[in-house]
Amino acid sequence: MALLEGRKISKSFGGVQALSQVDFAVDPGTIVALIGPNGAGKTTLFNAVAGAFKPSSGRVVFDGRDITGQPADTVCRLGMARTFQVTRPFAAMTCLENIMVAAINRYPQKPRSFIEGFAREKLSLVGLADMERLEARHLNVVQKKRLEMARALGTDPKLLMLDEVLGGLNTQEIHQAVEFIRNLRDKLKLTVLWIEHVMGAVMQAAERVIVLDQGKVLMVGTPHEVVNDPRVIQAYLGE
Ligand SMILES: Nc1ncnc2c1ncn2[C@@H]1O[C@H](COP(=O)(O)OP(=O)(O)OP(=O)(O)O)[C@@H](O)[C@H]1O
Ligand SMILES: [Mg+2]
Repeated sequence: MALLEGRKISKSFGGVQALSQVDFAVDPGTIVALIGPNGAGKTTLFNAVAGAFKPSSGRVVFDGRDITGQPADTVCRLGMARTFQVTRPFAAMTCLENIMVAAINRYPQKPRSFIEGFAREKLSLVGLADMERLEARHLNVVQKKRLEMARALGTDPKLLMLDEVLGGLNTQEIHQAVEFIRNLRDKLKLTVLWIEHVMGAVMQAAERVIVLDQGKVLMVGTPHEVVNDPRVIQAYLGE
């Protein structure tokens, strides 16, 4: 059974149809890439799935439950975490506090010592252990992306949804980040749905690729099938 399923999800903003009858499924334990040209609807799909807003129509099924239109904090407590394309840390809080906020939302009953230890573990996982006491506003763009991931992990998710986390990285760093995310998946037994423009990373990391174009699913396949498909090439070149 799929961990996450979208059934005919549509979303319009005024006159703009951002998503139109989008069907997709993400199997447990897999890394699935969500790709498509700018404005294809990728972030909108995240928002509709993770409770940032309600789809205009269609259903979202997560871990066997219909969560359509449920608010983000409810969805989060069920085990779905997402990062934001434009990172939004609490700038005046320390790195550790940023993750603690996430953990408290997930585990409101747990004592502070647990929350702090849990948060510290996630900070260390993303390589920011040394920055524990630093206010988030002092981080550079790449570190902010890592903190963003640690905040998502701070909610102890089953499904981690990443929205373009490789921005600003060079080729070698991209390779390391891919390894990092694959290891993370194995270690924490995660399922990953990953919006990414860096095709090299998608090719290395993903087991399945969903291609969105103009609010519709253009195709689903392996990375190899997708990059060699004339429809996909056309969608990108036609931009
Ligand atoms: N809050 C909003 N209000 C109005 N229109 C929106 C809103 N959010 C998204 N859109 C529109 O919906 C369409 C899809 O946008 P979306 O941000 O989902 O694309 P994307 O695939 O994530 O693109 P990118 O690769 O540039 O991040 C675009 O036409 C966009 O302008
Ligand atoms: Mg986007």
